[in-house]
Amino acid sequence: MEHYFTNNPDLKSELRNIVYKYKNYEMNFLSDNGVFSKDKLDFGSNLLLESIFDNKNEEHLKILDVGCGYGFLGISLAKIINAEVTMCDINKRALHLAEKNCANNNIKAQVLESDAYQNITDIYDLIITNPPIRAGKEKVYEILDGARDRLKAKGELWFVIRKDQGAKSAISHLEQNYDCEVERKSKGFYIVKAKKRWQQKMGKLQL
Ligand SMILES: C[S@@+](CC[C@H](N)C(=O)[O-])C[C@H]1O[C@@H](n2cnc3c(N)ncnc32)[C@H](O)[C@@H]1O
Repeated sequence: MEHYFTNNPDLKSELRNIVYKYKNYEMNFLSDNGVFSKDKLDFGSNLLLESIFDNKNEEHLKILDVGCGYGFLGISLAKIINAEVTMCDINKRALHLAEKNCANNNIKAQVLESDAYQNITDIYDLIITNPPIRAGKEKVYEILDGARDRLKAKGELWFVIRKDQGAKSAISHLEQNYDCEVERKSKGFYIVKAKKRWQQKMGKLQL
């Protein structure tokens, strides 16, 4: 069965343009068959993005968008809050679209092929993700847990997850290593902010 993260170069290309409007900004995103939410911006991604806009007004945040798809989250953050953005995915078609969408929206961002954090060497102020639920719980937890080692000391992981896709158990799981807050809830989608917890690390060091 094909998923939105399956690489299938034989899949017919049918490019379409999706418009995103936020305040005075208007951005255009090329999308195609074989990528996530190909016909319209995803409700959960939009909720995540606008929650970040409402909470983060510092400029030049260094942000990693894991599972970037055609680049909606990362490119919008680069444009609207002037963030320094890296985006990664395993879907080559999505990565190609993300590169085109950077150019079409006059954004300079790094676009990398990476299975979770495999090719990520830097550390970030924010890691954001609408994780690939269909890839399975193990991969989703690899992405959520793994953020901890790629965040700066005061870094935060922001993600969206639906209640019926395990939001509460993901939050309980993450509470081992992060302080989690549900920033917003709408239509069954939870926006979660997870801050690295320091006490536990220091505790370990003192042992
Ligand atoms: C729910 S979609 C979100 C796409 C995009 N960020 C958005 O909000 O529209 C999840 C993305 O994760 C990607 N993905 C799946 N498995 C992955 C993995 N192992 N490592 C990195 N990205 C992965 C998929 O290709 C897909 O683009």
